[in-house]
Amino acid sequence: MADGTFLHTADHKPAGVSRYLANEAETLALGAELAPGLKPGMVIYLSGNLGTGKTTLARGVLRGLGYTGKVKSPTFTLVELYKLSRLYLYHFDFYRVEDSRELGDAGFREYFSPESVCLVEWPENAATGLPPADVKVLLRVAGAGRRVEISAETEAGRNCVDRLNH
Ligand SMILES: Nc1ncnc2c1ncn2[C@@H]1O[C@H](COP(=O)(O)OP(=O)(O)O)[C@@H](O)[C@H]1O
Ligand SMILES: [Mg+2]
Repeated sequence: MADGTFLHTADHKPAGVSRYLANEAETLALGAELAPGLKPGMVIYLSGNLGTGKTTLARGVLRGLGYTGKVKSPTFTLVELYKLSRLYLYHFDFYRVEDSRELGDAGFREYFSPESVCLVEWPENAATGLPPADVKVLLRVAGAGRRVEISAETEAGRNCVDRLNH
């Protein structure tokens, strides 16, 4: 698919974006572009195989929100919390979750609140109980770079994704 918009809705406004990301810097830059459109309560799913750039994109979002510290992959901790001036951001990684019932025990649903933005790697592993996404991001290896597809699933998500077209 060529770069640009897709999934045109009834009023002809684009609800999705597809881009080629040639290198890590472009993944970080895309994350930073998404950041201004994030509002408390939003949920972003980050899908794609291991090594496709999900954590890199989350790092770009955090940089875009003004966070300058280290952004660790939450692979082992399941979640990392960032307290930013504008909002709380929780970064999840459910890669190691084999049974979504494990998450019930961890009380993870309490993290999803109207006050916080949640970025979720491997949302597929938490199938039940995970709040629906406002924005879905899918990353794939494409040559030396990555192909990313971003779709808005709600009105809030659309406000966020539409900014990418300008
Ligand atoms: N657009 C890109 N092109 C090439 N390599 C990339 C790109 N974006 C990220 N990477 C690299 O991919 C590797 C895996 O990234 P990471 O974010 O840890 O993936 P994931 O969280 O999906 O497992 C890192 O070495 C990162 O630098
Ligand atoms: Mg990761």
